[in-house]
Amino acid sequence: MFEICPETPADEPEVEALYDLCFAPGRTALSSYRLRDGVPRVAELCLVLRDPGCTLMAAIRYWPARIGRRNLLLLGPIAVHPTAQGEGLGGLLMRDSLARARRMRFSRVLLVGDAPYYSRFGFQRLDDVLMPPPTNPDRVLGLELRPGAWVGVAGQVTRAPAAPTTPSHAPVAQPCATVASPKEAAHDTIDPSAHR
Ligand SMILES: CC(C)(COP(=O)(O)OP(=O)(O)OC[C@H]1O[C@@H](n2cnc3c(N)ncnc32)[C@H](O)[C@@H]1OP(=O)(O)O)[C@@H](O)C(=O)NCCC(=O)NCCS
Repeated sequence: MFEICPETPADEPEVEALYDLCFAPGRTALSSYRLRDGVPRVAELCLVLRDPGCTLMAAIRYWPARIGRRNLLLLGPIAVHPTAQGEGLGGLLMRDSLARARRMRFSRVLLVGDAPYYSRFGFQRLDDVLMPPPTNPDRVLGLELRPGAWVGVAGQVTRAPAAPTTPSHAPVAQPCATVASPKEAAHDTIDPSAHR
C-alpha cells in the first residue's frame, strides 16, 4: 500500500531533491516557472506519495494561473522516483490529485507535457492557449473538470494574483489517502480467489 498526503513544509527538501533527480538541471529556468515565481501553490493539491517504508516515491504540485479573468490550475511538476517509474505511481498521483481538484470545484487544468502520456487522463492540446515562450504549442494541454470549461478560454496564460484562488464554497480538502499499489490492484482483478 502507498499513502498519498498533501505536501507539508517538512516534505519540501525531499520533494525538491526528487525533482532535481528526475529533471534536467536548470528546470526552474523553464518559461513555465515564470508563472510560478512568488505565487503560492495550491497546497491541497500538492501531494506526496510514500511507500510503506515512508520513502518518497512520487510528488505532484499545482499552481493557480489565469487567462484573462478566468482561473485555471497549472499542473506540474510531477515526478516518480526513477526506480519506480512505469509502475503506475504517476497515474495514481494524477488521478488522485485531479479527483481532489474536482471535489474542490476547480474548472480547468493546464499543463505543459507529453500528449502521449497525459491523453490517458483526458488532456488534449489547447490550440488557442499561449504559454510564455519558448513553449512548444504541441505540449500545451488542457483538461476540463467541468464540461465545457475550456470552451472560449483563449489567450496568454498569466500569473495568478498573490492571493490563493481556491473556488468559493469549496469543500474541505481531503487529507491523506491510502491506495493499493497498481501492481496489487492488477493482481486483485485477475485473482479469482478475491471473490470467494
Ligand atoms: C512521466 C512520469 C511522471 C510518469 O509516471 P510513471 O509512474 O512512470 O508512469 P505510469 O506508470 O503511471 O505510466 C506508465 C505508462 O506511461 C508511459 N509514459 C511514461 N512517460 C511517458 C512520456 N513522457 N511520454 C509518453 N508515455 C509515457 C509509459 O510508456 C507507460 O505506458 P504503458 O502504460 O502503455 O506501458 C514519470 O515517468 C517521471 O517522473 N518521469 C520523469 C519526470 C517527467 O518527465 N515528468 C513529467 C514532466 S511533463
